[in-house]
Amino acid sequence: LAKEIAHHDKLYYQKSAPTISDAEYDALRRRNEEIERRFPALVRPDSPSKRVGAKPESGFAEVRHAVPMLSLNNAFTRADVEDFAQRIRRFLSLKDDDAIELVAEPKIDGLSASLRYEDGEFVLGATRGDGTVGENVTANLRHVRDVPHTLKGRAPAVLEVRGEVYMARSDFAALNKQRARDELPLYANPRNSASGSLRQIDPNVTAERKLRFFAYAWGEISEAPGDSYWHFLERLRHWGFHVNPKAKLCKSPDAALAFYDAIAGERAALDYDIDGVVYKVNRLDWQQRLGMVSRAPRWAIAHKFPAEQAQTVLEKITIQVGRTGTLTPVANLAPVTVGGVVVARATLHNEDYIAEKDIREGDTGIVQRAGDVIPQVVEVVKAKRPKSAKPYRPPETCPCPLETPTAREPGEAARRCTGALACPFQQFERLRHFASRDAFDIEGLGHTHIETFRDEKLI
Ligand code: IVH
Repeated sequence: LAKEIAHHDKLYYQKSAPTISDAEYDALRRRNEEIERRFPALVRPDSPSKRVGAKPESGFAEVRHAVPMLSLNNAFTRADVEDFAQRIRRFLSLKDDDAIELVAEPKIDGLSASLRYEDGEFVLGATRGDGTVGENVTANLRHVRDVPHTLKGRAPAVLEVRGEVYMARSDFAALNKQRARDELPLYANPRNSASGSLRQIDPNVTAERKLRFFAYAWGEISEAPGDSYWHFLERLRHWGFHVNPKAKLCKSPDAALAFYDAIAGERAALDYDIDGVVYKVNRLDWQQRLGMVSRAPRWAIAHKFPAEQAQTVLEKITIQVGRTGTLTPVANLAPVTVGGVVVARATLHNEDYIAEKDIREGDTGIVQRAGDVIPQVVEVVKAKRPKSAKPYRPPETCPCPLETPTAREPGEAARRCTGALACPFQQFERLRHFASRDAFDIEGLGHTHIETFRDEKLI
C-alpha cells in the first residue's frame, strides 16, 4: 500500500499526470491511516502518513522549506466536520457554549507554492515537493501575474507567503485548443496544466501560460502574523496579494457548513476548479495550541465535494485493446455534461465489474467524473432498463481484423487477446507507447501519424 501511494504521489507531483481520481487516492490514504491506527507497530519509517507529496525530480534546484509545507486532513460528510469541531473543543478544553469561529474558503484545485520576501522583495519561490524539500521555481513564479515582485506598505523583514497556483478554466480551455492545433498532448484538467506550466525549465514558457495565485498561509515570518487568520488575510490583501474574495468568517461550524452548501451551488459557475471547502480556526493562539499531527494541522480541515455525476444512456459497449492485449470494455454514451465537461465514453473496467453491476447496452447509467482522468459508470438505473436489454457477453474474439481468440487466465480480472504481436491493434498500441512521452518521447510520432503510416503500409 505504501509503495502504491508513493507511485501515485510520483505521478501526481512529478509527472503532473495522475492515473487515478482524487477520490481513489484519498481512499488509499485512508486505508493506510486506518491500518496504522489499528496496528501502530506496523507504521513503516517510509509510511505515506509521514510524507506530503513526493520528492521533486531533478531539473530544478532543491529548496528546503524553513517551515514545512503541510497538507490537510479531509472530511467527506457533515458528521466528519462535526467531529472536527468536537476534537477542537476537547483539545482546547472549551465549554459547550464557547464559540469556535472558522474561516471558510474554497479549496482551489491547483498546486501550492511558497513565496519568500526579504525586506519586501520577492527573492525565492518554491513548489511544495514533499513538504520539506521543494523545487526552486523562482524564475517561473515571477511570471505569475498575481505574484507581487515588491510588497506594498510595511511588511515583515522575512515573510513567506503560501498559496495556490492555478489556471482559470477559460485560460485552460484556450491553452488546450492551441495544443490540439499544434498536435501536442492535451492537459487533462486545469490543475495538471497549472502544474505542468509552472514546472517548465524555460521560464518563457511559463510566462505564456496565464497562471494565477491565491494567497492563504504563511511560512517563515519575522513578526507575529496577528491575532486572527481573518486579519492576516486582510494584511495579505494590503501587501498586494490576491485573497479569494469568497473567503468567509463563520461564527460557528454550522455557519461554515452553510457556506459549503452555498459554494457547492456556485461551483459550476466559477472560473476556476475547486474540490471542496477549507475550514480554518480563526484564532491564531488556538491554532498555535492545536498544532499539527503527522502531516496536517489540527486547526484546519478540507471538506471535499462528492464526485460529480450525471445520468445518460449507455448506447453500446465496445472493446478497447491495450498494448499488452488487455481487453477493456468501454461504455459509449449519449454525450452528457458532467461537472462542466462533455463525456461520451466511460470505462467499465472489466467483465466482472459489468457482471457485478449488471450493466447492459441500452441501460441508463450514472456516470461519474471524480475531478480528473477517466470517467466511469458507477451503476445503472434498473427502472429505466428497456425490455430488450440483454446481459453483456464478453467477446470470444479480439475486435481486430484477425479476430484472434481471447482468453482469461484463472485469477486474472482481464480478458486478453491471444494474438500478441500478430494482432494489429496491439501492434498499434505498442508503437504508440514506445513513441510516447513516458518512453522514447519521439516528438511528432503520435496517434495520428502512426495511423497514417500504418494505413500507408509504411510500418
Ligand atoms: S491551507 C497548513 N487553504 O489543498 C494549511 N490549502 O489538500 C495548508 N489548498 O496543500 C493548506 N486551497 O495545496 C489551504 N484555501 C486553501 C487551499 C488549500 C487549496 C490545497 C493546498 C494544500 C492542499 C491540501
